[in-house]
Amino acid sequence: MALLEVRDLSVSFHTPDGVVEAVRGLSYDVERGKTLAIVGESGSGKSVSTQTITGLTRGAQISGSALFNGNELLGASASTLQKVRGAQIGMIFQDPLSSLHPYYTVGWQIVEMIRAHRKETSKKAARARAAELLGLVGIPRASQRIDDFPHQFSGGMRQRVMIAMAMALDPALLIADEPTTALDVTVQAQVLEVMRTLQQEFDTAIILITHDLGVVAEMSDDVVVMYAGTVMEKAPRRTLFYLSHNPYTKGLLASLPARGGRRGRLTPILGTPPSLIDPSERCPFAPRCPSAFDRCWHERPRLDPVSHDAEHTSACWLPHDVAGGLDDPVPARGGSPVDVNPAPETQEESA
Ligand SMILES: Nc1ncnc2c1ncn2[C@@H]1O[C@H](COP(=O)(O)OP(=O)(O)OP(=O)(O)O)[C@@H](O)[C@H]1O
Ligand code: SF4
Ligand SMILES: [Mg+2]
Repeated sequence: MALLEVRDLSVSFHTPDGVVEAVRGLSYDVERGKTLAIVGESGSGKSVSTQTITGLTRGAQISGSALFNGNELLGASASTLQKVRGAQIGMIFQDPLSSLHPYYTVGWQIVEMIRAHRKETSKKAARARAAELLGLVGIPRASQRIDDFPHQFSGGMRQRVMIAMAMALDPALLIADEPTTALDVTVQAQVLEVMRTLQQEFDTAIILITHDLGVVAEMSDDVVVMYAGTVMEKAPRRTLFYLSHNPYTKGLLASLPARGGRRGRLTPILGTPPSLIDPSERCPFAPRCPSAFDRCWHERPRLDPVSHDAEHTSACWLPHDVAGGLDDPVPARGGSPVDVNPAPETQEESA
């Protein structure tokens, strides 16, 4: 059994404008020690789906199942979920300042985190562990910096502090929601390296949410591509990059720069994601899809195996017995990871 088994997860919000279907029928497994990347444009349901699993979506209609270590998380009591968060599932977000309290030292916050879940741990032992963790994530002079406040750290160092805090109780699963989006490329690579090292040391499973295929190429074992709340394609990393099936995935891959560090134009996918208040049963990507045909406008495609490979599924009406990717779209290490859907002003040329 996988560490986390998500099945048919749907999340919707009732709003004055109608029902927002933020996530529809999402299923995936996360294995111990492995990284599952969830990639997709803004608003595709990446954050809502993981927040729902950890009990952090309020006022939503939720259905489906999320078995963590065999225990159902959906519908679990608030106190159970509070125990799971932090102790068994660590979380890192894009903006560490929203998670770290500005008025308390980072050491104090890690110590509190440890003692909230392990009351038997003495303050002295928790403080020693906090210093050890800060050292593990590569904060120089950790035993002194432990008494600094969050604002006294740079963005990259703050993100390391968040990783230390998330790993404090040795969780089996780490959910990292755009952990490096706000950082520049060099610092981003260092923070990812810290996550990878800790993962290997502690056999941690990671769900990595990103809109950056460069990060996916570097970090993931398996990939879920989401669009408008649904899964468009799911595959092991290499299959996704070399043998993608879905036109949406191909569109994301085409936005990567030319390989070998050559300067190449990004090809953003034209158009914008659809409204999530859309009862129609067409393929959600149809209005932007270069391959759309009649059926796509009337029937929502199922997620079916590609080339009879149960590990590779695609929601698309194109024939499933052929898959084919780009030549070698995985960006070379050292080149800058490139947004799959860069903002218009950054679409000019890749670094
Ligand atoms: N409380 C809410 N009420 C109504 N709609 C919501 C609520 N929370 C989220 N949504 C909607 O659900 C959709 C999915 O949001 P989500 O935050 O999961 O996107 P995302 O893929 O994480 O995007 P980003 O890359 O911008 O973080 C969005 O359209 C969002 O507006
Ligand atoms: S089902 Fe049709 S519109 Fe949707 S991705 Fe496939 S070809 Fe494009
Ligand atoms: Mg998000």
